[in-house]
Amino acid sequence: MKQINLTNSIFYVGVNDRHTDLFENHIELPNGVSYNSYLIVDEKVALIDPVEANFLEEYLFKVKSALQGRKVDYLVINHDEPDHSSTVAAVIREWPEVQVVGNAKTFGPLEAFYGPIGNKKVVAEGETLGLGQHTLQFFMVPMVHWPESMVAYEQTSGIVFSNDAFGGFGALNGGIFDDQVNLAFYEDDMRRYYANIVGKVAMQALKAIEKLGGLEIKMIAPSHGLVWRSNPAWVIGKYTQWSKHEGEEGVVIVYGSMHGNTARMAEIVARGAAEAGIKEVKVYDVAKTEVSFIMSDLWKYKGVILGACAHYANMFPDMTLLVHEINEFKPKNKCYGLFGGMSWSGGGVKTLAKYAEEGQWNLVADSVEVKGAPIREEDWDRLYNLGKAVAAAVKG
Ligand code: FEO
Repeated sequence: MKQINLTNSIFYVGVNDRHTDLFENHIELPNGVSYNSYLIVDEKVALIDPVEANFLEEYLFKVKSALQGRKVDYLVINHDEPDHSSTVAAVIREWPEVQVVGNAKTFGPLEAFYGPIGNKKVVAEGETLGLGQHTLQFFMVPMVHWPESMVAYEQTSGIVFSNDAFGGFGALNGGIFDDQVNLAFYEDDMRRYYANIVGKVAMQALKAIEKLGGLEIKMIAPSHGLVWRSNPAWVIGKYTQWSKHEGEEGVVIVYGSMHGNTARMAEIVARGAAEAGIKEVKVYDVAKTEVSFIMSDLWKYKGVILGACAHYANMFPDMTLLVHEINEFKPKNKCYGLFGGMSWSGGGVKTLAKYAEEGQWNLVADSVEVKGAPIREEDWDRLYNLGKAVAAAVKG
């Protein structure tokens, strides 16, 4: 079998998941996802981050093909989350003498998930593990994505095995490396991954990037998505931009509407934003578009305008998850505006305003609440001006 080489002795042994509908059972995967794993074959053999349990048979076939009869000496666990670790017990069964390598925080959760692990090797910040010609050095990157997260840097090749950091959604369609694909196809799914997985810990991600800045990085090999061998600076730049909350010029308008009136209002708001010179205006019906896609665009652009009709003196139910995610992930440097229809009770805009107050959103215009449909001239003006005001704040 032809191997996928990062170098002559470092192999890609990951798998594609095109079956799972929802990542972590709540984030849609229209383009699938990859679980990447790597094998270093030297005097000692190290397997870095296994894969999700449903792919065990395919995974072991790939690892054994690359091993050509050798056995695995070390199994490096950079991160305990089951999308990577749920084959740990199977790997140990296959090579019972394998030493499982983790840090002081790794083994508590790992053993809680899979039972006792007999042969453990605990590594600390900066500690090295010699394999022969290759040497792995470990750096802790807590909360990217869990407290125990670390990365392994191979000193001879300059490859960082970065686990979740610098990862992305999207199965690898034949091209494994950044120079083998159209990056535009992967960028949106990378940002969606960032915004919904890593974005909540943007500060820690930034610290991790700064920490790794001292290394001579020739290649970044994450546990999801492309391997960055030609231009690792590109993905470092994107992650830095997102972690610094450097939004682009654009306005995301998201509405929840039962009978189409708040939807009509969204069209007027969008008109105002576009007429004020914003070329990137994105309009989403929160009942039609899964929240992870909205969060991704919300992370990308500076302007956010949310609209909700009333629903029993509260707001349109599907909007609740979005505003919860906004206040949970706290994307910064945004210019917000609010609008919505009163129905018979009012309450949509009031509830949005409550969330805005709790989340300390930067409201840059008066909120607009409309009775019934936006058929009166003054309501049309207020909605149009809301779009214009948010656009002006974005540009300003
Ligand atoms: Fe890909 Fe946080 O696991």
